[in-house]
Amino acid sequence: MSDTSAPTVDTAREAVSRRLLMCSPRYFDVTYSINPWMDPAKPVDAGAARLQWEQLRDLYVSLGHTVELIEPDEDLPDMVFAANGATVVDGKVLGSRFRHLERTAEGPAYLRWFTDNGFPDVLWPEYVNEGAGDYLLAGRTLLAGTGFRTDPRSHAEAQEFFGVPVVGLTLVDPRYYHLDTALCVLAPGEVMYNPAAFSPGSRAVLREMFPDAILAGAEDAAVFGLNAFSDGRNVILPEAALSLAARLRERGFNPLGMDLPELLKAGGGAKCCTLELHPAVHLDGASC
Ligand code: ARG
Repeated sequence: MSDTSAPTVDTAREAVSRRLLMCSPRYFDVTYSINPWMDPAKPVDAGAARLQWEQLRDLYVSLGHTVELIEPDEDLPDMVFAANGATVVDGKVLGSRFRHLERTAEGPAYLRWFTDNGFPDVLWPEYVNEGAGDYLLAGRTLLAGTGFRTDPRSHAEAQEFFGVPVVGLTLVDPRYYHLDTALCVLAPGEVMYNPAAFSPGSRAVLREMFPDAILAGAEDAAVFGLNAFSDGRNVILPEAALSLAARLRERGFNPLGMDLPELLKAGGGAKCCTLELHPAVHLDGASC
């Protein structure tokens, strides 16, 4: 009889090393509320936030990823959520224009990092968009969230700029206000998502595009289980997302539990703290 209790990791899954941008939570705090997770009355432990974030950064490095750092700004307590700072596809950078006044200065701050660090193709956007919080690259398709933060008109702007198909998806649950709180790209054609976070039409689109997707239930979603980072093999997600971890293992991924409880007080997790700098791709498919 085969042992089904401890499925082994499929060695065919290959991790692709990534270039990631992160921002220290040196000035992290919850001083305002722009999503249902944020309660300024609840104290934040700055030291614990720092330690948790450092564990995440160290885990990326130990997995062979390159972590770049942007200097935090003391007036921008949410700047630790680097995913929102820009969207990078093929080495091209679409700047972010934030929905809320409290975060608007992050857009130019992140854009400056890109111009200072050798990214020649940078666009300051016309429409509100919250970067890779709402834009997720799945193979050569850019999945694009809207409903709470990113203006749907930004989707056409992103398609024109990057020259890849953009598929708009509407979020309907305020707890899952960015696309990366409701869906995670695991590998080019593979995703996991929380169907309840999407409008009926968007749910149908996701079913059509990803018939074999891992569907998250309410429990895994509520512990922020979809706010995960995948390098194609290793998937970093909250410890408490037990059922997702089991299903990832069945499919040959290597789930790695990582909790960031202090950052969760701002409605953020591992993926929110991470901006993937997708490199330029040659026509033969090799990245440079
Ligand atoms: N407090 C931040 C906000 O509401 C959290 C951002 C989380 N980032 C993300 N990529 N989901 O904007």
